[in-house]
Amino acid sequence: MRVDFWNRLKNETAELARSARNSKLQKLHEKASVTLLNDLAGVEHYFAYPGEARIKALERMLEREEFVALAHRVSDITRLLVSDGYRSNPNHEDEDDLTMEVVEERERHVGSKKNYFEVLFVEDRSKEDEKVLRQSLKELRDPSDQCEYGVVVQRSFQDAIIALLFNYNIQAVVVRYAPPYHSKNITPLIEPYIDYVHKLDFSEEADNDLGPILGKLGKQFRPELNIYYVTDTTLGNLKDSTIKNFSRIFYQTEDIQELHLAILRGISERYETPFFSALKEYSKKPTGVFHAMPISRGNSIFKSRWINDFGDFYGRNLFLAESSATSGGLDSLLQPTGPLKKAQEMAGRSYGSKRTFFVTNGTSTANKIVMQALVKPNDVVLVDRDCHKSHHYGLMLSGAYPVYLDSYPIQEYSMYGAVPLAHIKQKLMRLKEAGRLQKVKMLLLTNCTFDGLVYNVERVMEEILAIKPDMIFLWDEAWFAFAGFTYNYKQRTGMFVANKLFNKYKSLTYRTEYEAHMASLKEGELPRMPDPDKVRIRVYATQSTHKTLSSFRQGSMIHIWDEDFRRKSESTFLEAYMTHTSTSPNYQMLASLDAGRRQVDFEGFELVEKSVELAMVLRAKINDNPRLNKYFDVLTVQDFIPSQYRQTGLKEYYDKKAGWNRMEDAWQLDEFVLDPTKITLAIGRTGVDGDTFKNKYLMDKFNIQINKTSRNSVLFMTNIGTTRGSVTYLTNALLKIADELDEEFAALNQREKEIRKKRIQALTKEVPPLPDFSFFHHSFQAVPGVPGGDIRAAYFLAYDEENYEYLPLKECIPAMEAGNVLVASSFVIPYPPGFPVLVPGQQVSEEIIRFLLALDVREIHGYRADLGLRVFKESVLNRQKTMSAMGGMPLATKKK
Ligand SMILES: Cc1ncc(COP(=O)(O)O)c(C=O)c1O
Repeated sequence: MRVDFWNRLKNETAELARSARNSKLQKLHEKASVTLLNDLAGVEHYFAYPGEARIKALERMLEREEFVALAHRVSDITRLLVSDGYRSNPNHEDEDDLTMEVVEERERHVGSKKNYFEVLFVEDRSKEDEKVLRQSLKELRDPSDQCEYGVVVQRSFQDAIIALLFNYNIQAVVVRYAPPYHSKNITPLIEPYIDYVHKLDFSEEADNDLGPILGKLGKQFRPELNIYYVTDTTLGNLKDSTIKNFSRIFYQTEDIQELHLAILRGISERYETPFFSALKEYSKKPTGVFHAMPISRGNSIFKSRWINDFGDFYGRNLFLAESSATSGGLDSLLQPTGPLKKAQEMAGRSYGSKRTFFVTNGTSTANKIVMQALVKPNDVVLVDRDCHKSHHYGLMLSGAYPVYLDSYPIQEYSMYGAVPLAHIKQKLMRLKEAGRLQKVKMLLLTNCTFDGLVYNVERVMEEILAIKPDMIFLWDEAWFAFAGFTYNYKQRTGMFVANKLFNKYKSLTYRTEYEAHMASLKEGELPRMPDPDKVRIRVYATQSTHKTLSSFRQGSMIHIWDEDFRRKSESTFLEAYMTHTSTSPNYQMLASLDAGRRQVDFEGFELVEKSVELAMVLRAKINDNPRLNKYFDVLTVQDFIPSQYRQTGLKEYYDKKAGWNRMEDAWQLDEFVLDPTKITLAIGRTGVDGDTFKNKYLMDKFNIQINKTSRNSVLFMTNIGTTRGSVTYLTNALLKIADELDEEFAALNQREKEIRKKRIQALTKEVPPLPDFSFFHHSFQAVPGVPGGDIRAAYFLAYDEENYEYLPLKECIPAMEAGNVLVASSFVIPYPPGFPVLVPGQQVSEEIIRFLLALDVREIHGYRADLGLRVFKESVLNRQKTMSAMGGMPLATKKK
């Protein structure tokens, strides 16, 4: 909105300058310019650049009718804002203010690229005092500083919060002098955007001084920032909670220089990248290599007559940084004590965990590590069946019994949604009734799903902990690493909620609420609040940093917020980490995780907000264009989420008539929400299936890469690297495809038209029903009739060829009708959708066979069409059953 208004002002002032000879026209443009400038003044109040002084100068130019100069100035400011140019030229004083010395000094440092940021000062003081502050800070600047900052002053609590929510340049906050609550600056233009500033509720705050509350809220909304407090209260009289919420406390009497230095120091601490920096240093040192790894320092590459182009392509630094050294400034991932230890600690702070571990083989490995660390054979794990295959393999390796949970189907688009909380509770209660609750160790859910469905993490954890207070949660956040850096998203992440619930359950207020809740329960009614004396917060999140943030491929992290980690799981976790981690981890990848951490620390908030904005732009562009609507629909929130899971009733983020809807309420309340950066385009009306559309149209013709398709849809994602240009490129490509389809359709003869119509009918109406998980065959069930199966026993039973046979798909249903029991001996994973429709030991259902028969995808892992479905021989099942009845099996783990 801000950039849009500047562009409009640029056009109006340009017209104003041009219309000198037409006074009527001139009046019109002048009026429009005044209104726009007024509107902008209300917004610019929250930013240091261009700042109030420049806005005032523009107003003066308008008054004095210096229209040509005005148009130039507005155009310059707009250009600098749109291109972000003001940030690479942080010397943003008006050129006229500059003295010769400053210019010369600046030129001496021209080569050094400075980082620009803004500091928010919250203080209710006069304009005169503000001037003094700005002047003193200006005098403290040293041209050799690596960073330079602009100053934003806000005089009220509300204004400070608005600045924090909108101004992504802010990297530090100084709260000086208790601010009053109400803003005098909220203009009608920004009113609709600050709804939740009005809704902030401090009724529970013990402190009635707004300064410390601001510190607390600042930490909540933008935890990466350094927040300083300037006060007169002596240390002894300051509350612990106040001290905790600020990076440092200053006294009014202290020199402003101290504050300035603390600000720069705070920035340089966050700027630190311990491992990346160590690796850079290491690569500069002359080293003789007398161990393995000839590629190290490029020795085997640049001397080679045959592969030196490989070296030229990647450049010398890559090879200089290739090393297996764990000393000389570097560190060992398997037992870090130096820069890797520090880098992981810093990542823990940025991602909000208690412990963070870097993983160099993707979240596929991170998932197996966590599973092995926390569950053992015979434990029970509740898991969404459509989770990533790494979890199924993890379960097979650990020997735990999975209890599969069914996500609700989105039949029309051949996709699954997510698992409703009621379904999870129902399974858990079933296990409780069967006396198996103590065996249940973990609830594992994918958040968000590939298609962008996001759980209400807090509600799930609260209600599950009410039934089982020691449940361990594993949130697979492979697609959600970016979510920790903006407030809406963050509220639905494992780490944030773990921290929030831990503090909540410790509080006296909660204890009182819990007691009232228990007293209000009717006979037989289940508590919905966990018992504060029993509850333990044990949360793990695995994230593919490389999927949504800056990291080389395979760079992942495990984040842990487990209050029992040291006592109960650290040793098994470290063993599991050793089991799956290479003794030669890739240093480039580790360095990229470290540098990526610095990036999210400084610009995660900005980049994530921008990627959401671009997603919204793309949604609107496709929805609004009739040429695109003809073939494509952007699937909406209501297409993905049935109304019973949308308590706020939000149906879509954007609507042609109503415009934008706010997402905040839905993200706080609804059982499921849709991540707007995952944009699913329904393409059934093109008559082309998802896979062909991806390869033939998007990739071959326009070099557009996407990850996921369904039978009749393709998924686009925006991320922190997406640019406005790439969104335009995609929209243009879709327009060209639409034109091409028009031409193709026009050239069809009658018969071809009928075939095309049938194809469209098949893609839009005749979608094969999605099968639920059937059940484990009783010889693989942990306890007969109770959910949970021995996937490991079934998996290894199929190591002997004589135990299984192949049955062509077409013969499966007749065989079942004839009374044969078919039990899968392997995983069968069609791609898409990419998760197993059959796992070892699972009884095959008619529904599953019909689904497989109707599938027209090229890849089905674990199934060869020429051989048929691999199922256990019935004699083996009978033998297995007998062994099971006797209390043991040759290969299966003993069941209780
Ligand atoms: C939900 C989920 N978890 C885990 C993974 C595995 O992640 P990685 O590619 O980092 O190994 C994926 C990959 O697509 C995934 O979708």
